[in-house]
Amino acid sequence: MKFFIDTANLDQIREAQELGVLDGVTTNPSLMAKEGITGRNNILKHYVDICNIVDGDVSAEVIATEFNAIVKEGEELAELHDQIVVKVPMIKDGVKALKYFSDKGIRTNCTLVFSAGQALLAAKAGATYVSPFIGRLDDISTDGLNLIAEIRHIYDNYAFETQILAASIRHTMHVIDCAKVGADVMTGGLSSITGLLKHPLTDIGLEKFLADYKKGN
Ligand code: G3P
Repeated sequence: MKFFIDTANLDQIREAQELGVLDGVTTNPSLMAKEGITGRNNILKHYVDICNIVDGDVSAEVIATEFNAIVKEGEELAELHDQIVVKVPMIKDGVKALKYFSDKGIRTNCTLVFSAGQALLAAKAGATYVSPFIGRLDDISTDGLNLIAEIRHIYDNYAFETQILAASIRHTMHVIDCAKVGADVMTGGLSSITGLLKHPLTDIGLEKFLADYKKGN
């Protein structure tokens, strides 16, 4: 399972990278705005800064919603760095653009996916990644994890190569449950990764080991 961090915060990206388990970064316009990154040039520069910190894929989202504009913007993003994956929304022109990018060898992440049908379309269009937002489904009393399982089942039936990128991960149990049902990738905040470290028995056990070592030395 690949671990992506879902943020545009460079300190958090560095911390996850230094932990040694980071496989990539996802961003979106809201995450950029949260870090105060505004204006086209600053946003493009920020993507390059992120690519220079991590070794893996970095999703950069298009703002355009019309086919020709999505293609223009996506090609500009893909040119920025070879780690860039163009993030395209699940809309009609987005599906057309996914197919266009796929034919041109430009890697994509289809975002804002909330149903198995949308995930099937993204795979048919040749998306590299599909991003079902499980937290936002849970927010409206719908089982987000079940969607991941449904997509896994469908993709396995036909050996689709599109990777399931479980997004809108809110906590460590989302990560573990997504791993159980076979998501290829998870993207969440730093705490959803570092939270996996924690167990009180580990802390108690380590304290005892260190105390016992001191007794003998
Ligand atoms: O990767 C998608 C993510 O950014 C959405 O997360 O927490 O806003 O639902 P959230």
